[in-house]
Amino acid sequence: MSKNHTAAIILAAGKGTRMKSGLHKVLHPIGGLPMVSHLLGTLDGLSPERRIVVVGSLQEQVEAALPGLEFVTQAEQLGTGHAVMVCREALKDFAGDVIVLFGDVPFTPLNVMQEMMAARASSANPGIVVLGFEPADPARYGRLVRGGDGTLERIVEYKDATEEERAITLCNSGMMVIDGNKLFGWLDKLSNANAAGEYYLTDLVAAARGDGRNVAVVVADEADVLGINDRNDLAAAEAAFQARKRREMMTNGVTLVAPETVFFSHDTIIEPDVTVEPNVVFGPGVTVATGAVIHAFSHLEGATVAADAVIGPFARLRPAAHIGKGAKIGNFVEVKKADIEPGAKVNHLSYIGDATVGAKANIGAGTITCNYDGYFKYRTEIGAGAFIGSNTALVAPVKVGDGAIVGAGSVITKTVEADALALTRASQNQIEGYAARFRKKSEARKAEKKGK
Ligand code: UD1
Ligand code: CA
Repeated sequence: MSKNHTAAIILAAGKGTRMKSGLHKVLHPIGGLPMVSHLLGTLDGLSPERRIVVVGSLQEQVEAALPGLEFVTQAEQLGTGHAVMVCREALKDFAGDVIVLFGDVPFTPLNVMQEMMAARASSANPGIVVLGFEPADPARYGRLVRGGDGTLERIVEYKDATEEERAITLCNSGMMVIDGNKLFGWLDKLSNANAAGEYYLTDLVAAARGDGRNVAVVVADEADVLGINDRNDLAAAEAAFQARKRREMMTNGVTLVAPETVFFSHDTIIEPDVTVEPNVVFGPGVTVATGAVIHAFSHLEGATVAADAVIGPFARLRPAAHIGKGAKIGNFVEVKKADIEPGAKVNHLSYIGDATVGAKANIGAGTITCNYDGYFKYRTEIGAGAFIGSNTALVAPVKVGDGAIVGAGSVITKTVEADALALTRASQNQIEGYAARFRKKSEARKAEKKGK
C-alpha cells in the first residue's frame, strides 16, 4: 500500500442535458469561475500525483478550459462505473489510492477530502470510503444501505430502490476513495442489469464487500456536496458561494453594509477596513486596499483600488483601471485601462480610458478621453496637478502637462505645456440690453395676436 500516492479521477463526460445549454455543464461559472475549477482548486490541497478528467460530450470545450490536466475519453456514456473503467489504461502502472469526484459536485471542502483519505488509511483498511450526506430532501439520490452491524453493505440507486430502501435518509454524494490495487478488478464485476441499463460506480461497494473488504462512510454537510443538474441548482450554488464569500470577507475585517446585495468573484481580494456599500458587484480580478470605500451601485472588474481611495456611488471600473491612494472616482464615471495617480479626482460623469491622470489632478465633470477612432486606441496623459475644466474632450493621442489648466468646454487635440492655460471654445459676445428689448417686443406681439 503506497498511501501517499493518490490519483484523482474527475467525471465530466455527461454533458448535463438538464442544463439545456451549448456550454458543458461543468464549465458553467460560479463566482466567475467554471464549477469544475472550484473542485480542482480544492483538490490541489491534496497534491494528487495524477489528475484525470473523464470527458465525452463537448470534450473540446472541457479540454480547452482545463490546461495541464490528463484527459481520458469516454466515447459513450454508459454510466459512472463505466466512466472509471475507461481510466484503466491511464492507471495501469499506478498503485495508490484513487479518489473519484464528480465535476458537477464542486464545493466539497479540503478537510472533507482529507477525512476520507484518513479513513481509507486507517487500521480498519476499508477497500472503499464513501462520502454520504443526509439531505433535507433525499429526492433521487442513491441510498446507502447498511447491514445489521451498521457498516455499509451496498448503495442502491433511487430508480432501483424498493419503497423501504427509498425511506433511507443517508444518501450518496458520489465521491469515493478506493484502494487502487483493487479498483479495476472490482469494476470488472459490475453489470448494467439495472433500471438505467448503466454501469453504476455505486455497485463497487457490493463488489468490495463480496471480496471480503469493509467499506467506510464519511458523512458531509449537505451544503458541501451540493450537486448541480439544472439552472435552478446553478443559482442555488451561486447563492451558496456568495454567502460563503460574504462571511469570509466580513470575518477578515471588511465592512459590508448590506452583505446580501454585494456580489464577489472567486478571486476578489479586499483588505481589512474597506467599506462596501449596498449593491456593489465585483467581477473577476479586483483588489481593494485598506481604508478604501466603495459606495453603492458600483461595478468593478479587473481593477485595483489603492488604500483610502473612494469609488462611486454609481462608478464603473473596467479592466486595468488602477486607482491610486486616496484618489476619488465619483458618480457616473467609467475608468478603463488607466492609472489614476494618488489623490487625483474624477468626480462626475466622465469617461477615462487608455490614460494616465497625474497625482492630485482634477478632472472636471463631463470630461471625456476620446481614445478610439473606430480602428485604433490612443493614450491621453494628464500631468500631476493639472486641472481639466468641465465638459472637455481630450482627443488622443494627447498630453496635458503638469499643473496646466484646460478651460471648460474645450476640445484638446494638441499638447498643452506644463503650467499653461489652454482653451478652444469660441470667445463670448455680449449685446447690451438685448434681452430686455427682445422681451418687450415679444410681449407686445403676443398681446396684439390675442386682441384679434
Ligand atoms: C450519481 C450517483 C448517485 C448520487 C448522485 C449524487 C451513480 C450511479 N449515481 O447520480 O448515487 O446520489 O450522483 O449527485 O453514480 N458521468 C460520466 N460518464 C457517464 C455518466 C456520468 O462521466 O457515463 C459523470 C457526469 O458528467 C457527472 C457525474 O458523472 O459529472 C455524475 O453523473 P450523473 O448522471 O449526474 O449521476 P446522478 O444521476 O446524479
Ligand atoms: Ca448529478
